Amino acid sequence: MRDTVLLQLICGVLAILSFPLVKAEDPYKYYTWTVTYGTLSPLGVPQQVILINGQFPGPRLDVVTNDNIILNLINKLDQPFLLTWNGIKQRKNSWQDGVLGTNCPIPPNSNYTYKFQTKDQVGSYTYFPSTQFHKAAGGFGGINIYQRPRIPIPFPNPDGDFTLLIGDWYKVNHKALQQTLDSGKSLPFPDGLLISGQAHSTITGDQGKTYRFRISNVGLSTSLNFRIQGHTLKLIEVEGSHTIQNAYESLDVHVGQSFSVLVTFNQPPKDYYIVASTRFTKLVLTATAVLHYTNSQKPVSGPLPVGPTYQIHWSMKQARTQRWNLTANAARPNPQGSFHYGKITLTKTIVLANSAPLINGKQRYAVNRVSYINTDTPLKLADYFNIPDVFSVDSIQSVPSSGPAYIATSVIPASLHDFLEVVFQNNEKTIQSWHLDGYDFWVVGYGFGQWTPASRKSYNLVDSLTRHTAQVYPNSWTTIYVSLDNQGMWNMRSAIWERQHLGQQLYLRVWTPVQSLRNEYHIPSNALLCGKALGHHP
Ligand SMILES: *[C@@H]1O[C@H](CO)[C@@H](O)[C@H](O)[C@H]1NC(C)=O
Ligand SMILES: *[C@@H]1O[C@H](CO)[C@@H](O)[C@H](O)[C@H]1NC(C)=O
Repeated sequence: MRDTVLLQLICGVLAILSFPLVKAEDPYKYYTWTVTYGTLSPLGVPQQVILINGQFPGPRLDVVTNDNIILNLINKLDQPFLLTWNGIKQRKNSWQDGVLGTNCPIPPNSNYTYKFQTKDQVGSYTYFPSTQFHKAAGGFGGINIYQRPRIPIPFPNPDGDFTLLIGDWYKVNHKALQQTLDSGKSLPFPDGLLISGQAHSTITGDQGKTYRFRISNVGLSTSLNFRIQGHTLKLIEVEGSHTIQNAYESLDVHVGQSFSVLVTFNQPPKDYYIVASTRFTKLVLTATAVLHYTNSQKPVSGPLPVGPTYQIHWSMKQARTQRWNLTANAARPNPQGSFHYGKITLTKTIVLANSAPLINGKQRYAVNRVSYINTDTPLKLADYFNIPDVFSVDSIQSVPSSGPAYIATSVIPASLHDFLEVVFQNNEKTIQSWHLDGYDFWVVGYGFGQWTPASRKSYNLVDSLTRHTAQVYPNSWTTIYVSLDNQGMWNMRSAIWERQHLGQQLYLRVWTPVQSLRNEYHIPSNALLCGKALGHHP
């Protein structure tokens, strides 16, 4: 009897230790998600898709700032699987990031319980599969983080809140697409666009009311333009930043990005077109949905509203108009602009140049000549268990150099509390979309041609947005500032999935020799082990 009590006590203490999110006031939310294959016809022909709890796209995660999420993911596919939480910062907790550099994939007929907190975040995010080429089959969904009750937001409460996941889509099975890539070929042009998993969907609201639309590009490779016939889009939020509330006719959204707009139903009662169309593509793909006024008797009519197609200057100019509202609250009750990012001394500058080399006759993508390859042992676990020969921190240079590209597991070392300038240099004629896990960063500048130190004169050091994914225009550069306040092993990757899959990614190891729970949580007690980490104990 006494043993049982003692055992329970030990288990209780272990449970607390294994999940050291000690803020008792922050609520816990529990989920069980089962991942299966299903057959749907999003573009009119039946194909295999990935469902979560039977849904395509997957269920929306509706949470509040600082919620603790306990999400048991059950993998019923025939392949190992992981979800990653795009834009969730995982403070001190890269253990839960759900990419192959931090987590062992969940084997078929097995499960893993993610435990993480939406610490100090508010806004619109997404999740999607990070393994194999699963993202091409679905498994993605929206994450809405609502503000806590007493934290004001810089706009009136909308009358409703719609999530639109837009993206390019292939009729081809994800395994066939992956086979094409793994055999060294590029993917063909996508077959179409989907809005929330469908070719025809309808959004319904009342005349005179104002709704929040959360738009995310969940596609594989194509930048999109979003617009609504007869209505303006008032931008309010970009990946957790509250913005200056400019009105736009249309907005570009690059792969992996999210934004929110307010739309007032202030037109005559009728149905209107919602349009997404491809950017920077020779052939323009278009998808429409219907905005339906509850008092409308008239179906959609008239030409689709025109959007930009190839205009690169237009897009860069629009990007520069998207700015931080310095007086608005963030998730915490302090003005966003109280952190003067433009006045902090840079610790280091890193310049990352993407390229599309052939390596051994096969198409690959590279960063500073290194085409990333995953290891069987997640880098984070190799680091934690001191397992040698998994990765090295001198595997990639921090500025571009000339010479042939090669395959390696590239990790850039950095110290906790460094303040980095990262320049993404794109010398290719295609658009890029770069994402960093574990952080949001200030996008301080966009420019054409080659970045030089003189380019710094054009930076916006006052009210740039913070976000987690930044576009880099063809033959252009984009600079970000990032404050390395989150210890861990963090994936920096192309959000363009063919490029990510074939090597355009790396890891940023944010480290300090002082091991402290204040900087990083313990390895979770349920951590899956694989590769050379098998036989170790979390
Ligand atoms: C799998 O799910 C069970 C509950 O059904 C849970 O106890 C267990 O911790 C989960 N496994 C992992 C590795 O999280
Ligand atoms: C910025 O936020 C403040 C505070 O909520 C709000 O009053 C103001 O209208 C916003 N400014 C702009 C330009 O959007």
